Order: sequence, then C-alpha cells, then structure tokens
Amino acid sequence: MSFLSATLARVKPSPTIAVTTKAKELRAAGKDVIGLGAGEPDFDTPDNVKAAAKAAIDRGETKYTAVDGLPELKQAICDKFKRDNGLDYTPAQVSVGAGGKQILYNALMATLNPGDEVIIPAPYWVSYPDMVLLAGGEPVFVAAGIETGFKLTPEALEAAITPKTKWFIFNSPSNPTGAGYSRDELKALTDVLMRHPHVWVMSDDMYEHLVYGDFEFTTPAQVEPGLYDRTLTCNGVSKAYAMTGWRIGYAAGPEELIGAMRKIQSQSTSNPSSIAQWAALEALTGPQDFIPVNNATFQRRRDMVVDLLNAAEGITCPVPEGAFYVYPSIAGCIGKTSHGGVKIEDDEAFATALLEEMGVAVVFGAAFGLSPNFRVSYATSDENLKEACRRIQEFCAALT
Ligand SMILES: Cc1ncc(COP(=O)(O)O)c(C=O)c1O
Repeated sequence: MSFLSATLARVKPSPTIAVTTKAKELRAAGKDVIGLGAGEPDFDTPDNVKAAAKAAIDRGETKYTAVDGLPELKQAICDKFKRDNGLDYTPAQVSVGAGGKQILYNALMATLNPGDEVIIPAPYWVSYPDMVLLAGGEPVFVAAGIETGFKLTPEALEAAITPKTKWFIFNSPSNPTGAGYSRDELKALTDVLMRHPHVWVMSDDMYEHLVYGDFEFTTPAQVEPGLYDRTLTCNGVSKAYAMTGWRIGYAAGPEELIGAMRKIQSQSTSNPSSIAQWAALEALTGPQDFIPVNNATFQRRRDMVVDLLNAAEGITCPVPEGAFYVYPSIAGCIGKTSHGGVKIEDDEAFATALLEEMGVAVVFGAAFGLSPNFRVSYATSDENLKEACRRIQEFCAALT
C-alpha cells in the first residue's frame, strides 16, 4: 500500500509551476529567457499599505486574531461589497483566509461529498479542478471557446446541470483568458441558475478591478438578487493591490457556509497573518487612485500584445476585457514543423519548442483545459513584451 493518500493520486502538480521551473533551468544554464507566465502584477505594493503593516508590527499586532479575520477587516470588507457591488453583508457573513486560494478551498472542503459535481467553464484557472478533486468532488468541464469570446453560453450551462451539481464556479474577468462577462451575458447565466435551486454559485471576482475601456464589472449576487442566499462572492487583495505575497483573500455568503469554512480554517491554518490583515484593511479603506493608473498601463500593454500577436502567422488573439492575460489560438500553426524540427502537434509542443528555440516561456492551453491556445501574462515590462512578441512572430514565420 502506498504511503501517500489515495486522494493525492487524484490531483496533478501545477502545470504553470512546471513551466516556470523549466524556464528557470534554462536561465541557470545561461539561456536568455523571457517569462510570460507570471500570475501577479509587476507593480510594487502601495506605500500606504506597507506603512500600515509596519505600524501594525510596532503596535504589537503580532498575536493570533479571530480565526477567520479581524472584526475591523470584516467590517471593511462589508463596506467594500456595498460600495463596489451594491451587496449587503454583515461581518458574520464574511470569511478572511490566506489568499483567495484558501477561501475557495475551504468552501469546497466544507461542502463537497463524494460524487458531488462542480461545473467549471473551460478554459479555467488551473487550481479549480484539483481543489474539487482534493475535496472529493467531481469537476464537470464545459467548453467556453474562442467563438463565444471564451464565455459560457446559457445553453451550455443548462446542459451541464444534473441533480448532482453542487456548485457552479464563475470567474470574470477570467484567468487564463481575460474574458469579462457583461451584465447581460451574466444575467443570461443567472436566469438559468434561477431554474435550478439546488445549484450554488462560487463567484471568483479576483480580477474585479482589472478591467479596461468602458467594461463594467458585475457579480452574480448583484445581477440576480434571487441568488444571494446560495452565492459565495469571493475576492482578495492579491491582484488589484499588488499584494500576492501577503496572502489575504476573503468571501461573503450565507452564515452557515461561512461558519463551516471557519471550522476548516480553525483546524488547519487558523488566522491569516495578523500583519497582512492590517495591511489589507489599509488597502481596502485607503486611497484607491493608483488602480486606474496601473490599469492604464495594463490596457496599453494588452493592446500592444494583441496587435503584435495577431501579426504572427497562424495566431489569432481576441481582445479581452480584463485581468492581465491574453489567450491566443494557434490553430493556424498546428501540423507545421518548427525551425528546430519539432512537429507542432498540439499547444504543448508549440510552447516547448517556443521556449527551447526562442527562449519565450508561455503556458500551453491544455493546462487550462482548452486547446490549441497558450496564455500570455502581460504583467511584465513593455520591453520584455515587445521582444517576446517579436520572437513569437519569428518562430511562427519559420514554421513550415
Ligand atoms: C482566478 C484566480 N482566483 C484566485 C486566485 C488566487 O489568488 P490568491 O493569490 O489570493 O490566493 C488566482 C491567482 O492566480 C486566480 O488567478
């Protein structure tokens, strides 16, 4: 009998980490590699947030806190939901964890029984399926392809729902595509969910503030108040406030669910770092004016990357509404052979050859459940992006 648990055998290691590791190895071997795999902003945490953390240390806020968050932070989260999303929550309906990741994991652990199904639109953030599997559930993938702007249609959602469906995971703007659902597109999905009262909604709003042009962010419980009692609205400070290393995520939803999540957290990690919680409080209540400034940079980079990728032979790159990713299709490259002699049979072969022959690290689409594509993160400098896209163009031009 294996020493390791049977549950562990159900999950795979993160493919995004595998790509980063390979890029690091090549760099260590002296190769000039540009990484387009980062899942975090390249901006620094704002100074007022850093100062709040230092002040918290100096005040001695270095002890255990309430398991699922400081009362002050929970109140600030309620105020944020009211201000940004028009949602009314009380502090008892709020949970704070070590990143958005822990929040989603706690919710799945707290609710899934063997055989329970979780609907996940594909392409998806790599952690959703494995978290569902770790919690004993069954991921059910529904394709949301390039032809619908990587957005799930109401018909596809309807067809995926069974009596065993427990959750529908919704992520807009999305990792890995950047696609954001308009209010009308989201309403069409919530109309379907209203016909299936046993299905709960886990809305992962991590990229809420990273939206461009006149796109208006909305979240399911806001668009359809009838779903309020069965929606967990998840968010965090990682992306909008450039705080990935601080590890603070949060969610609001029905009290019973929040209590069950607290029970899991109390027997696993207890409270997230007290210092990071005080920093997150400052992030949510302090000045927000750097968000549009950062977004202007992201939008400029998005437009540049989309233009440069569309100029590469065999690549089609739609313009996404938000996040800091694009998810181009390489359908026009499949079946060809690279300059280095690699047959491009799928997106994994494309990404591997691109890394080895041109020194550009991207994550292949199969890792996110939809091929043939790759993900580019444009959370890196303009120079890196320009040079990486030039190399991608050269790579594609040399395919025969
Ligand atoms: C869609 C999505 N949800 C959640 C997370 C988790 O964020 P955190 O770093 O706060 O755990 C990420 C991070 O990459 C993400 O892309």
